[in-house]
Amino acid sequence: MKTTISQAPNQKDQTVTIGAWLANKRSSGKIAFLQLRDGTGFMQGVVVKSDVSEETFELAKNMNQESSMYITGKIVEDTRSPFGYEMQVSVIELIHEATDYPITPKEHGTEFLMDHRHLWLRSKRQHAVMKIRNEIIRATYQFFNENGYIKIDPPILTGSSAEGTTELFHTKYFDEEAYLSQSGQLYMEAAAMAFGKVFSFGPTFRAEKSKTRRHLIEFWMIEPEMAFVDHDESLEIQEQYVTSIVQSVLKNCKLELNVLERDTTQLEKIQAPFPRISYDDAVKLLKEKGFTDIEWGEDFGAPHETSIAESFEKPVFITNYPTEIKAFYMKPYPDRSDVVLCADLIAPEGYGEIIGGSQRIDDLALMQERYEQHDLTGPAYKWYLELRQYGSVPHSGFGLGLERTVAWLSGVEHVRETIPFPRLLNRLYP
Ligand code: 4AD
Ligand code: MG
Repeated sequence: MKTTISQAPNQKDQTVTIGAWLANKRSSGKIAFLQLRDGTGFMQGVVVKSDVSEETFELAKNMNQESSMYITGKIVEDTRSPFGYEMQVSVIELIHEATDYPITPKEHGTEFLMDHRHLWLRSKRQHAVMKIRNEIIRATYQFFNENGYIKIDPPILTGSSAEGTTELFHTKYFDEEAYLSQSGQLYMEAAAMAFGKVFSFGPTFRAEKSKTRRHLIEFWMIEPEMAFVDHDESLEIQEQYVTSIVQSVLKNCKLELNVLERDTTQLEKIQAPFPRISYDDAVKLLKEKGFTDIEWGEDFGAPHETSIAESFEKPVFITNYPTEIKAFYMKPYPDRSDVVLCADLIAPEGYGEIIGGSQRIDDLALMQERYEQHDLTGPAYKWYLELRQYGSVPHSGFGLGLERTVAWLSGVEHVRETIPFPRLLNRLYP
């Protein structure tokens, strides 16, 4: 019977066949230990010379790393391995013999591994990170589906910019100028007026010359948008959503967190509600913590965010930033035009901003004023203004950066390991 490694626990004491690759191997004169992988997981295969044909034992002993095979044997419990099961191998049928696989069990430098990303993805660590990424995506669909949201897909090619014009990728759209989407938000606002509660999940592009452990040129964002929801209600949705993905990963990715040696003590404390601190108070806190030259009105950098996050056990919302340093569409704070109804959610343990969100301006005249201040002329923005003209309602939304969230939950240092094929400042290969 053909099965997979992930299904092996259900096949205890049965003889099965698995299509697999050889991840690693160790052998002596009488026994060979094969580290097998099949995409669904990793499992040890034990080949005992006296139990198999000479041909099978020779094959097991001499096979090269990453050779592919059909391997048949009995699944037995193995309490020493974290997976809990191994295969007592009876027959190996070689499919393809690999030669000189470049990524050997020894240590390799990051640039070398990034140049071999198409192969590096096979490694146990990368496998674990991608499984956690997948679980966050799964839990995201579950959360929004269970809470009455519908998924809407905004366009990737756009004529307008949501987050400022400096970081846009330009492209020709026949005779017109177009950009790759930085955020689906503006379109999601139109969708919220049509469907109430919506979310999107898709790639976004920032031509940002940043070379930090938190920045990708192409990254994936989850962007919910809700009609009749104010800023405070949006924060409650955000903390419930983040709690649900953290708890899903803890529950469904135990093996992967273990492979990554992720200390989960901090993650286990992540339950809504999350603390909130205003930008005003955050500036005071930073001054107390030794950032003496930070001035009100300046944006926070990574060291500021990390320092603020250290004062809290859970992710923290920094709310009501200065109007000057935020996007054109954010609604002013009541009775204060210098700050807006927005929040960034800062993850613990130095992983930085994972969510940016706000209540949107719903007043037509005020939006027109903002258009003038931000020089948003031309037909590309006409439709967005019309949303304020026909049955405008209070509405809010936010964007969660998938890769930063994967980095945080997996405990990996750099976002380049959280997406299958990262696009970085100096990397378009592979
Ligand atoms: O804060 P940002 O720029 O917000 C928006 O784009 C809003 N329009 C979202 C909305 O309200 N619908 O980006 C949102 C999140 C950030 O908090 C961060 O997690 C992630 O996207 N992000 C990046 N992740 C990786 N690399 C980059 N260059 C990123 N830029 C933003
Ligand atoms: Mg932001």
